[in-house]
Amino acid sequence: MVDVEAFIEEATAEIAEEVGDKNAVIGLSGGVDSSTAAALAYEAIGDQLTAVYVDTGLMRKGETDEIRETFDYMDSLRIVEAQDRFLEELEGETDPEEKRHIIGEQFIREFETVAREVDADYLVQGTIYPDRIESEGTIKSHHNVGGLPERIDFDGIVEPMRDLYKDEVREVARALDLEEIISERMPFPGPGLAVRIIGEVTEEKLEVAREANHVVEEELEEYEPWQALAAVIGKATGVKGDNRVHGWVVAVRSVESRDGMTARAQELDWETLQRMQSRITGAHENVARVVYDVTHKPPATIEYE
Ligand code: XMP
Repeated sequence: MVDVEAFIEEATAEIAEEVGDKNAVIGLSGGVDSSTAAALAYEAIGDQLTAVYVDTGLMRKGETDEIRETFDYMDSLRIVEAQDRFLEELEGETDPEEKRHIIGEQFIREFETVAREVDADYLVQGTIYPDRIESEGTIKSHHNVGGLPERIDFDGIVEPMRDLYKDEVREVARALDLEEIISERMPFPGPGLAVRIIGEVTEEKLEVAREANHVVEEELEEYEPWQALAAVIGKATGVKGDNRVHGWVVAVRSVESRDGMTARAQELDWETLQRMQSRITGAHENVARVVYDVTHKPPATIEYE
C-alpha cells in the first residue's frame, strides 16, 4: 500500500485545488468506497461539499440509519427518499443491463436535482481501480463509472481514489476514523439489491433479498468473507405447513478475494449452511428453498446480474 497519511494529504490537496471555491456533490451509497471518498472530500472542502444519499429502496437493512449516524457531523448531508421512483422506473424490467441503466439514470436525476439546488459545479466519486478496469472491459457497466459524467452539467469530476484497491480504501477509511461498520463492511454494488434479484424487481422480492442478505451478513461474519450475499434467483416448489407453495429460491454466496476481479467460493460448514437455510426460509412465507453457490469467479461473477 501507499503511505496512507501521504495519500490522504495528496488526495485532499487535489480535491481542494480542483474544486477551488466552488461547490461539489458526492453520492453516498453506504459502501466503503463512497463513504471514504465523502470523508476525504469533506476534510478537503468542508461545507462546500454536499453528500447526497439516495435511498433507492434497494439498500441493505438498516443502511439509511447507519448513514444518518455516521455522517451526522456533516451539516450538508442530504437524504433523498426516492424508493417509489426507483421501483416505478424498474417495474416490468427483466434485462440485467437495462436494470443497471435505469438505476444509473435515476441516480443521475436525483443528483441533478440536489446539484442544482446547492449550485454544485463538481462531482466527487468513489471510483476505485477495479471499477475502472471492469468498466473499460465489457464485463458489466458499473453505474458509478459508465455514463454518469457527460450526462450532467458539471465542470469536473473528481475521483480521488481512482488508483486504489479495496483493501487500500479500507486503510484510508480507518485512518480517517470512519465507523467500523463502514470501513469493515463488505462491498455492496451501486445498483444495490437489484443485482441480487434475477428478473423484475418487486417489493416482495426486495423484502426477501433484504432479509436474506441481513441473515447472511450476520451468520458469516466469523468467516470473514471478502463478500457474502444472498440473491433471489427464481421460483420452485416447497411445502410450508400443510401447503405446497411455489416460492422463492434464495442463493447464498460467500467468496474470498483480494480485489473482486477473481474470487473463490468459500467452504462453509454444514451447520452454518443449515442455520442460514432455516433463518432465510423462516423469514418470509414465500421462500421455498435455499441453495449455496459453489462457483468461483471466473466463470461466475460475484453478483448475480
Ligand atoms: P462482479 O459481480 O462483477 O462484481 O463479479 C465485482 C465486485 O464489484 C461489485 N459490483 C459493483 N460495484 N457498482 C459498484 O459500485 C456496480 O454496478 C457493481 N456491480 C458489481 C460487486 O459487488 C463485487 O464486489
